Amino acid sequence: MKTLLINGSPHEHGNTARALSEIAKTLEAEGIEAEQVWIGNQPVRGCAACNACRTSTLGKCAFGDDVCNRIIEKLQGADAIVIGSPTYYGQPSGQLLAVWQRICYAGGEYVAGKPAASVAVCRRGGSTAAFQCMNMPFEMLNCLVVGSQYWNVAFGRTPGEAQQDAEGMQTMRTLARNMAWVLGNLHRDGAAPRPVPEEWAPMHFIR
Ligand SMILES: Cc1cc2nc3c(=O)[nH]c(=O)nc-3n(C[C@H](O)[C@H](O)[C@H](O)COP(=O)(O)O)c2cc1C
Repeated sequence: MKTLLINGSPHEHGNTARALSEIAKTLEAEGIEAEQVWIGNQPVRGCAACNACRTSTLGKCAFGDDVCNRIIEKLQGADAIVIGSPTYYGQPSGQLLAVWQRICYAGGEYVAGKPAASVAVCRRGGSTAAFQCMNMPFEMLNCLVVGSQYWNVAFGRTPGEAQQDAEGMQTMRTLARNMAWVLGNLHRDGAAPRPVPEEWAPMHFIR
């Protein structure tokens, strides 16, 4: 089983990476493969609402010039997902939101129904709002949002400083163990089948 961890910071080795690494290390100790992918620090596009991903057989985002489709490909082989971001003005990074919204629109089928979690780091405040924001797509894609002993936040300003947040790092390890437990139960032989979704009943009075 494999977990994909997406680092939505412009810093490859910053505090978001530190928090995700703590999760990855703990997952691996629990026998779960963990791959980290960094969204990079090059420009990324937001969704243009062109609907090409949905109205054609494209199966991916029409914009192929950034990291979006590479992550969609990686999600196909992932059994669980963790997204992480620094807190910017009480929100996730703009880069993460831009890419993640396109991933969910063009590749949502590879997110849907999987155990998932979000992680936010910050210097001082606003990380819980960023955390909640990142959880929103998971909650409408039938994901199993995995919790921890606290909201998944860690504190630090300069790259790597979050390592000193003992409670934050413990929160990440607890999250990873909970994720491993959920994965183990979902995939064990004879596990109960997932609920079969009803046919979609779109709101009929607003089109
Ligand atoms: C544009 C910008 C906005 C920020 N806004 C906040 C904020 O609202 N609250 C906070 O505590 N830290 C804020 N920070 C600090 C970062 O969240 C913090 O340094 C974080 O650890 C960086 O993570 P990284 O090393 O993964 O990039 C901000 C930093 C930047 C660059």
